[in-house]
Amino acid sequence: MPYHRLLTEQTAALVGALPIEVVVMNSLTVNLHLMMASFYRPTRERHKILIERGAFPSDQYAVKSQIRFHGFSPDSLIELAAREGESSVRDEDLEALIEREGSAIALILLGGVNYATGQLFDVELITKAGHNKGCLVGCDLAHAAGNVPLHLHDWGTDFAVWCSYKYLNGGPGCVAACFVHERHSEDWALPRFAGWWGHDEKSRFEMGPKFHPMPGAEGWQLSNPPILALAPLRASMEIFAEAGMERLRAKSVSLTGYLEFLLQEQAARNFSIITPRDPEKRGAQLSIRLSRQGRELCDRLTAQGVIGDWREPDTYRVAAVPLYNSYQDVYEFASGFSAALR
Ligand SMILES: Cc1ncc(COP(=O)(O)O)c(C=O)c1O
Repeated sequence: MPYHRLLTEQTAALVGALPIEVVVMNSLTVNLHLMMASFYRPTRERHKILIERGAFPSDQYAVKSQIRFHGFSPDSLIELAAREGESSVRDEDLEALIEREGSAIALILLGGVNYATGQLFDVELITKAGHNKGCLVGCDLAHAAGNVPLHLHDWGTDFAVWCSYKYLNGGPGCVAACFVHERHSEDWALPRFAGWWGHDEKSRFEMGPKFHPMPGAEGWQLSNPPILALAPLRASMEIFAEAGMERLRAKSVSLTGYLEFLLQEQAARNFSIITPRDPEKRGAQLSIRLSRQGRELCDRLTAQGVIGDWREPDTYRVAAVPLYNSYQDVYEFASGFSAALR
């Protein structure tokens, strides 16, 4: 019955949370809706949601549908874009926008690492700027969890959601997770979409008609946990605990720096790297913009066993993952990429 708790301590450590602040459950978009049911409470004066332009489509659909669900118009969505000719959003533009429009923003929801560009956002800075203007702040950490160190409790972020498909090795459809800051853990007045597994476990099996939530993130659970799906994630989390996020990050910075160096050395320069150059502003991923025939190049590399990821219209994403990629892998990738380009 409490199988999901076997993952709690390591999950909390991974994102810099207290155990009461995390729960492993559902899939990411489901968790995002559950969080918005509680933390997107628009009023006539304060009804906007701020996201980054180019947020993952599921997040865009989810926030737009929440806005419509509450009877507001598409104008309630603010999408912050990078400046003309730039690929990443500047911190100062984010801060200025929050300062300017903050009193009308109900919720700020940003990716920890943007899935397309690989930009790592300063979640602490955004949380502080948002809170100063009375906004709630949530995060989609799908591309950040297991990729970069996170300190959600200290940063004060209201909620976060992430999946385990990518750096956490779960594979498609594996169970996602959710963070709710301790300050909300016993706020019984918060509206929420309830299910029996969110009910206080001490009286859950009395099967009473009235819902009494568990304190903390577990109070947002709907259903009893999928044990077979949790088992491989548990194995992965044990590996993360053993390797340590700080050590993984140190290797990641070096590995991705090496990848960037080798790519910059290429003679054929018919591509550009759109991921920020500053290691503090990115995780393991580099997004390569190809000027022509990018899809064919991607297919050619895949046929050679080099699996990157193609995103229309022109972006090829690769990530040198510190847990299992070596410097030799990176070198071989760069050589294969160079040959495919030629
Ligand atoms: C940033 C981001 N948000 C949302 C999702 C959707 O996840 P799920 O299929 O678990 O809802 C993904 C999945 O790849 C993602 O990368």
